[in-house]
Amino acid sequence: MLKAIQQTADWISQHTTMRPHTAIVLGTGLGRLSEEIEVVDAFPYNEIPNFPVSTVEGHSGRLIFGRLGGKDVMALQGRFHFYEGYDMKQVTFPVRVMHQLGIKNLFVSNAAGGMNPDFEIGDLMLITDHINFMPEHPLHGPNFPTGPRFPDMHEAYDHAFLDMARQIASEKGIRTVEGVYLATQGPTYETPAEYKMYRIFGADAVGMSTVPEVIVARHCGIRVFGISIITDLGVEGKIVEVSHEEVQRAADAVQPLMADIFREMVRRIG
Ligand code: HPA
Repeated sequence: MLKAIQQTADWISQHTTMRPHTAIVLGTGLGRLSEEIEVVDAFPYNEIPNFPVSTVEGHSGRLIFGRLGGKDVMALQGRFHFYEGYDMKQVTFPVRVMHQLGIKNLFVSNAAGGMNPDFEIGDLMLITDHINFMPEHPLHGPNFPTGPRFPDMHEAYDHAFLDMARQIASEKGIRTVEGVYLATQGPTYETPAEYKMYRIFGADAVGMSTVPEVIVARHCGIRVFGISIITDLGVEGKIVEVSHEEVQRAADAVQPLMADIFREMVRRIG
């Protein structure tokens, strides 16, 4: 595994001269931000040695290097989900490679179902914390030398980044909400009883990704910032049928606002 990470990182650094400190993971239907990146180099996942290949609709699967907000960034357009059949080592492999490439900051995005009764479809939720409800832990097995055996998670989502995002949203007049993201394995959306249970657990939104990547990033000492786009509601009385297409449509509508926040954060980070 360590060898594969090193090999992949070496291949990438031989194919681009860019050395960004910030990486962005673009979730379901959120690949549009890549259009705002002045792309310098882009590598389809199937060309990168050892990279898994993304299969879900709406993920075109490229690693992009370019400029956003006047700064160098790399972006994963399309992620690897546990429900696709990948194991957690594969799901988090790109984060390990990006760490090897020198990433210090990781911005993550996803589509999620909102369970907080104050949320509306199309809200941007700044992720303040998470609940790992995935069936397999990404750090299961011998410890990686990137961090301790028992990593601290008291500030998985960097407080300074959250403050920066609040400030930017208020300056730009973008409505944001905040909350706890709970990750399930999917691929089913929730039953009303499950939404209710996750709400009782203390979650504000539920989705099928992100938490494994964030755990590995924190184990690597990478600072994390995350946004969930609320694409449907798991609130009693407001639950209707959910489809992947509707999730995409709702995500599509607000991704320019998320892009605004990400771009401005990248610009402000030293
Ligand atoms: N549940 C799980 N994952 C999701 C949802 C949801 O309601 N919406 C978008 N991704």
